[in-house]
Amino acid sequence: MTGDQIIIFDTTLRDGEQSPGCSMNTNEKLKVANALVELGVDVIEAGFPIASPGDFEAVQMIASQFSDRSTICALARSRDDDIQKAKEALASAEKPRIHVFLATSAIHREHKLKMDKQQIIDRAVHSVRDAKEFCDDIEFSPEDAARTELDFLCEVVEKTIDAGATTVNIPDTVGYATPSHYFKVISYLKQHVSNIDRSIISSHCHNDLGMAVANSLSAIEAGARQVECTINGLGERAGNAALEELVMAIRTRADYYGVHTKINTERLFPTSQLVSSITGMKVQRNKAIVGQNAFAHEAGIHQHGMLQERSTYEIMRPEDVGYSGRNLVLGKHSGRHAFRDRTKELGFDLDDAAVQKAFDDFIVLADKKKEVYDSDIIALIDNRLADAPERWKLVSFHTSAGSSAIPTATLELKCEEQPVLCDAATGDGPIDAVFRAMERIIELTARLEEFNVRSVSEGKDAQGEVRVTINVHGRHYMGKSVSTDIIEAAARAYLQALNKADAERKGISEQPADEVAADSP
Ligand code: KIV
Ligand code: ZN
Repeated sequence: MTGDQIIIFDTTLRDGEQSPGCSMNTNEKLKVANALVELGVDVIEAGFPIASPGDFEAVQMIASQFSDRSTICALARSRDDDIQKAKEALASAEKPRIHVFLATSAIHREHKLKMDKQQIIDRAVHSVRDAKEFCDDIEFSPEDAARTELDFLCEVVEKTIDAGATTVNIPDTVGYATPSHYFKVISYLKQHVSNIDRSIISSHCHNDLGMAVANSLSAIEAGARQVECTINGLGERAGNAALEELVMAIRTRADYYGVHTKINTERLFPTSQLVSSITGMKVQRNKAIVGQNAFAHEAGIHQHGMLQERSTYEIMRPEDVGYSGRNLVLGKHSGRHAFRDRTKELGFDLDDAAVQKAFDDFIVLADKKKEVYDSDIIALIDNRLADAPERWKLVSFHTSAGSSAIPTATLELKCEEQPVLCDAATGDGPIDAVFRAMERIIELTARLEEFNVRSVSEGKDAQGEVRVTINVHGRHYMGKSVSTDIIEAAARAYLQALNKADAERKGISEQPADEVAADSP
């Protein structure tokens, strides 16, 4: 292995989850955490426990299930109650880390915090000491560090290291830095902070100017030994540095950077697919490392070169990132063993019963579709694992529509042991009619805020995935489903969201839909 090891700090479940439309429920977060552990990330930032009971629960469960394999980190503002919640959420972790942050730039001091420099230092030192009473592994982030006066930044970093910070993270919160600027910031800290050797310097770059990965690599060149990143570059606004790009740049250019990571790179593509399927955030086709076109050579001259010698046009092998071409997987005659192996390769850890259910769905799908891809399998499993409380079940639906017909839907739903209920409605299209009929039966009115359809794989017979977000009395509920029939997928997705709203109305839900703390990072 070349040189120092770079610590990979993944924040898909915290900063990534802050991406608009990317919120995940606890079950989904556990699936992502499992994939991150298999990928070999060193630190998983599991959430921001004070933000909501759902965030708290997710950090707690990830800490109890995965902290023997990765360090589990919880975020806290520089406030006693935040730090207390982080401690509680991490109570069962074998390797806990508390990540405390407080903004330091003049803009944030004056306009957001209304605090002077000394107050910032006092508060930061107090919080690091408080967190330190719980565990040794403490990270401190001077938020908006890239726009903070360098001398003040040095002072904050020195004092928080003295107070016990073992990692100092230098966030480019608004994606303002450039590679040479960020290099200078990290170098300045190395030269001017007297105790800097007692702490690991970390980078945390946002992608507003498209430079998050380049800036993080510059930080490594300047001496940072931790990089904070997310799968597929998810994150606030334009996102964070993409984990897969950083890891493959470090590996492919080990000759230049002279460092290495512990990442199992063959898990990069499957993890990317899993996160994309769970969040609904599609990976752009030409995205580096994990895009569908990342290894496709179209030009004849390239193809010719590749046939002679791969290295003429290929700097990484697709198999090194776990990319297996078009992912044409199994046919309907493939056995259960082959199916189970493929689900493992795709990052799922299913028990026998779950494999059997997914396999049953796969056989039905393979009957309808000629070709079944990895993305189809991920969608099927996801569908099964969706943890919505299912009081109402879809028994049947019928729609009629056409250029000269009034779109109409007839629907049968069943609620627990009660008799099947039937109703019909018209709408401005067959899907609208289905939604209206459903609301009449369940006696719940919702506002549809988002409706997304995407093709899970290729071809006219592809499965369609529908994701909906509804608003019921100001609360948001998400539902998603897949089917080769998009009206059915839409019906099931809408029913899933209504079931969540109905469960909360009846007070039987374990997890509130969407509470977001004010002043969150
Ligand atoms: O971007 C940022 O400043 C953050 C901090 C909480 C580290 O996400
Ligand atoms: Zn951030």
